[in-house]
Amino acid sequence: MQGTVTISGAKNAAVAIIPSAVLAGETCILENLPRIQDVDSLKNILIKLGAGVDYTPGDCMRIDPSSITTTDATFPEVSSMRASYYLLGAMLGAYGEVELALPGGCVIGSRPIDQHLKGFRALGAKIYRDEARNVIRAQCNRLRGAEIFFDVVSVGATINVMLAAAKAEGQTVLSNVAKEPHVVDVANFLNMMGASVKGAGTDVIRINGCGKLHGCCYSVIPDQIETGTYMIAAAATQGDVIIKNVIPPHMEAISAKLMESGAKVHEGDDGRDFYLRVSMDGRPRSVNIKTMVYPGFPTDLQQPMMAYLCRGVGTSVINENIFESRFNHVKELRRLGASITVAKRVAKVKGVENLRGGEMFTSDLRAGAALIVAALSAPGASRVHNISYIDRGYEHLEHKLRALGAKIERVDG
Ligand code: EPZ
Repeated sequence: MQGTVTISGAKNAAVAIIPSAVLAGETCILENLPRIQDVDSLKNILIKLGAGVDYTPGDCMRIDPSSITTTDATFPEVSSMRASYYLLGAMLGAYGEVELALPGGCVIGSRPIDQHLKGFRALGAKIYRDEARNVIRAQCNRLRGAEIFFDVVSVGATINVMLAAAKAEGQTVLSNVAKEPHVVDVANFLNMMGASVKGAGTDVIRINGCGKLHGCCYSVIPDQIETGTYMIAAAATQGDVIIKNVIPPHMEAISAKLMESGAKVHEGDDGRDFYLRVSMDGRPRSVNIKTMVYPGFPTDLQQPMMAYLCRGVGTSVINENIFESRFNHVKELRRLGASITVAKRVAKVKGVENLRGGEMFTSDLRAGAALIVAALSAPGASRVHNISYIDRGYEHLEHKLRALGAKIERVDG
């Protein structure tokens, strides 16, 4: 592929910031939100709770939480998406109570929320779990600051407890926290609403509770994982692609690994936007991947990276250290001729000279991205089914890829 692509706002920041707006109690204007399914789902959930949510003429989302009439978020739309669990921290922090239908696990793992609940309890919340209905009820008239050391570094738990603590009485100290860019973005949004959140992006976050927050305007950061996906697709298609609206320091683990595999990655600034230019000739050298918490190699890019390494010279070893079953894309890549063996959390990818087009079935969002990368790098036509998974997290995917020269179209299943 050749050409220029512009990155959209970060999904994993957006799906936390949108629910967080309820903490303001006043109108918030959010810019640079990606037009993806998960954002649309959260918009509809807030509307169902009674909030006013619409898009301004300038394509910003306007959220007015002052008209929210209930703390009962047990309707089906809530359990249909994982990130709705941010309503726990946001509504507990805003109203002192919430009842929420929980999502199940998903194909990448059981995805427990014990660390989220540990944090809420430490702040003084009473947690009631209705196993039969898979509903959580959290209640506390006045949350009080606490010192919380997370047993597991968790993006969701870090963000969710940060939300609950934003208006709690006194200081909350969170240790062993996640440091992903989207965690920092949520902290910055809270501070724009008048909260006092310090240390996001480091191992310890200090939150001084503020009794009242206010509305604000906020622009969401560019999506680290979308950026990495296009970087990998550029290399996998032996292309030369300029990826604009990026934050290069967020991409260091991916840039380093792509360069180790033989790709060229150049960082630049066109006076308005930072960009990364990725180019590649020939097949990648095999490399080893260990997924880690930030700033290590992100688990969300393990799947697209595996698709790229299917044509590697040599054998690549991929350790998936974050989720217990994030290799569902392997059987689909084998349909294109990939040679991959899996033993528990380790995949060995023996590179082949060429893949071939075929039929593949998406099982989760980033597996879908992997199948698209594989299809783009395989001679012949491929069909990727169940692309609604991909629509959850990639804005205008086929349009962006077509603009880079890819032959891709959406067809009826
Ligand atoms: C977020 O999921 C992202 N989702 C995931 O991206 C991403 O893969 C993950 O962070 C890791 O970076 C959103 O931000 C909406 P975790 P999250 O809590 O918060 C264990 C995508 O494709 N854990 O950091 O659910 C957990 O089982 C999605 O955009 C507990 O044990 O991930 C996992 O092994 C997929 N107890 C590890 O921690 C808990 O209470 C990391 O999970 C919470 C997590």
